[in-house]
Amino acid sequence: MPKILIANWKMNKDLKDAASFIKAFKKDIKKIKNSAAVICPPFTLLHEMKKMLRGSSIKLGAQNIYFEEKGAFTGEISASMVKDAGCEYVILGHSERRQYFNESDELISKKVKSALKNSLKVILCIGETLEQRNNNSTFNVLQNQLERCLKDVSEKEIENISIAYEPVWAIGTGKNATSEQAEEAHKFIRSLLSKICNKNAAANAIIIYGGSVNENNIADFMRIKDVNGVLVGGASLNPETFAKICSVRVL
Ligand code: 13P
Repeated sequence: MPKILIANWKMNKDLKDAASFIKAFKKDIKKIKNSAAVICPPFTLLHEMKKMLRGSSIKLGAQNIYFEEKGAFTGEISASMVKDAGCEYVILGHSERRQYFNESDELISKKVKSALKNSLKVILCIGETLEQRNNNSTFNVLQNQLERCLKDVSEKEIENISIAYEPVWAIGTGKNATSEQAEEAHKFIRSLLSKICNKNAAANAIIIYGGSVNENNIADFMRIKDVNGVLVGGASLNPETFAKICSVRVL
């Protein structure tokens, strides 16, 4: 299975920065085999980035959507709008959305449904806080988030959802999960999926890791059996660094 490497630029970069990133990154990505790169820039860059990425294998994703199709929702952006801007993917349920914008599992599940209805591939983020890990409730938290966010999603639809395990304490801290912690969480998530959908679909589900991934630790994550890719924040902002992450040899 090819690995998927996703850049989450968060609230960073203007048009000029994005153009110089793509120019540099496109040169390096040509050499990259057996992996798929996705870039998720801020909404304002989507249309132009779609043009910049034409002719390359790099895919485009959004960082969020609102679940309604259209109407009086000032400041919001729908699934069909990001689709129209050229997105193939959307990140949903990121811990920063949960933490700073009070997004609940219930709201996230509505967004998941809307994204799928509009033929977007979903990158659904789940993960525990440090306090929850220290309380030994990691598995409980992962199970609740996964089951609630995937409520009303059919077995068939799950094929278009990747799960991103992002422990909150590892995001932007430089303190990545150890291989053992990631392996354990990914294995658990796959076992949960096998209860929600059929065994084959669970075995083929894409489960990716996020949290302080960089060019020095990427190889450790890629070696783990149930890690099918990574979701990268800070280290995806520099084209050379993200290219190094994308070129890690996958055995
Ligand atoms: P960092 O790679 O900066 O830790 O961010 C991870 C993340 O939140 C990706 O969605």
